Amino acid sequence: MCGIVGYIGKKQAAPIVLDGLSKLEYRGYDSAGIAVFDGKEIVTKKAAGRLAVLENLTHNGENMPGFSGIGHTRWATHGAPSDLNAHPHSNGAGTIVVVHNGIIENYMALKNKLVKKGYEFSSETDTEVLAHLLDYYYDGNPLQTITKVLHRVEGSYALGILFADHPDELYAARKNSPLIVGCSEDGCFIASDVPAILKYTRNVYYLDNQEIARLTADDVKFYTVDEEEIEKQLVTVDWDANAAEKAGYEFFMLKEIYEEPKTVTDTISPRIRNGEIVIEELGLTDEELKAINRIHIVACGSAYHVGVTAKYVIEGMLRIPVEVDLASEFRYRDPILSPEDLVIVVSQSGETADTLEAVRESKARGIKVLAIVNVVGSSIAREADSVFYTWAGPEISVATTKAYSAQLVAFYLLTMKLGRVRGVIDDRRFAKLLEDLQALPDQIELMLGQKEKIQHFANRYVAARSVFFIGRGIDYAIGLEGSLKLKEISYIHSEAYAAGELKHGTISLIEPGTLVVAVATQPELFAKTVSNIKEVKSRGAFVMAIAERGRKEIEKEADYVLYIPFTDPFFANSLAIIPLQLFAYYVSVGKGYDVDHPRNLAKSVTVE
Ligand code: G6P
Repeated sequence: MCGIVGYIGKKQAAPIVLDGLSKLEYRGYDSAGIAVFDGKEIVTKKAAGRLAVLENLTHNGENMPGFSGIGHTRWATHGAPSDLNAHPHSNGAGTIVVVHNGIIENYMALKNKLVKKGYEFSSETDTEVLAHLLDYYYDGNPLQTITKVLHRVEGSYALGILFADHPDELYAARKNSPLIVGCSEDGCFIASDVPAILKYTRNVYYLDNQEIARLTADDVKFYTVDEEEIEKQLVTVDWDANAAEKAGYEFFMLKEIYEEPKTVTDTISPRIRNGEIVIEELGLTDEELKAINRIHIVACGSAYHVGVTAKYVIEGMLRIPVEVDLASEFRYRDPILSPEDLVIVVSQSGETADTLEAVRESKARGIKVLAIVNVVGSSIAREADSVFYTWAGPEISVATTKAYSAQLVAFYLLTMKLGRVRGVIDDRRFAKLLEDLQALPDQIELMLGQKEKIQHFANRYVAARSVFFIGRGIDYAIGLEGSLKLKEISYIHSEAYAAGELKHGTISLIEPGTLVVAVATQPELFAKTVSNIKEVKSRGAFVMAIAERGRKEIEKEADYVLYIPFTDPFFANSLAIIPLQLFAYYVSVGKGYDVDHPRNLAKSVTVE
């Protein structure tokens, strides 16, 4: 989704704003713009396309003098990507300039009123309404004007605003769209996400809904929409600044895949103490854990695929019924929830609009919500009853890899903890599970060691038109994610099928040479999946299989086999996903695509 950066301070603003925007490119965008107060007036530059176009236009910001500025990368919702629709937007005189992330839902009604009053619009965006509405109410007092406007608009927003007649101030506000404020000795910042300003400061404030910030070069003050000043807590972000840099990798995605052993370790180790699993942040007593009747897992995209795996793990280990829902479905299907249910939402960004609404819907019905989230202080983290953080650090590539792996192990830990408390996992089994869990980081490292084989194989499939992923049980869930990864970044059509289901229709699409990726890590389902491999082989498919070490017999059926080390079958996803992530990555590289910024996709989807 859109990205916002703003700066006011002792240094030239434009290079800082553009540098910050470059750290938000992962959010997905189709145009970019910047506005700077140059000492006399606010100068705005915008350009459709990549940030590089704007960087060239402004010589990386150097030809835009001035010490306060706001910038924006846009992901089009209202109006096509174009120079005119790009942000910032301004009032007619260019004295009030706005960048906006989110959607103003009543913009048509507001626009009609403003047009009647003689306002002229130059873009198709909802955001331009804000600029004119600010103009309409402006009485020389920015704070008072902003509050009036916020009382009139419906929808979601993160805003950065400059007023030409208040050149020493920068204003920000938010509702249901993330925005942070940071301060350093050299000035103050606003940003949609921490990586944008991590280079300059680790001291940030998380704006809450309907809060306004007034930044000057050396201070920041916070207000409610009723203009009351409020105190906010300064939070020190302990992310490693290098985490938001590529560190020599061609793309963030590869770097993040290589970070998976560390991510998994960082998520697991703080929760294991003296041979037991301790999840302090769970916020549920043992009695409450024992009383859970049913679990609802709600998420979008890859996080949903983690939920599909978790259903097999939780039901298989604990016999607690689990329902997995896409957040966009859950919120509108009037889900049946009872007081002993637990809702678990999963989200890397913690900002996904549908997942956030699922939190609200569940809480409104009095159901406890546990969030598995990566971004500290994100909206979902703040609104859920309790938060299990996946310590994956900033994930920049749009296609998630390390956060997905961290979410998986979060569920393993939760399941084992529940199993312990509810007395369904005995000491011996628990000790073995713990051993297997702790072995995962080294085993993931081993999987990464197969990189060249996978790269070689991927190069053969760069021109593939269609790829199928098949598997049963957890292997099916792995296929869902492997297929999504391939689609997202290589634009090759691909489908994941429960292996037994393929013959009920889709097998008609298998032609000589079609690549079928068969995941067969589950011992009890192995023979069944091998039968399904035979079915597609006899229709001419080329089969790449992923199987447990020692299952040599699969080589008789599959054309190409990758093996995973021994682990508990419930944990197999954590190992089998690595070659599938690498496969998608190398196909995309082979096609010459910008792996980290796939077309039409955004990392953080803050609209419905
Ligand atoms: C977007 C991303 C996906 C991600 C999904 C959920 O669609 O492109 O990679 O899985 O959102 O995001 P979340 O931040 O809630 O995990």
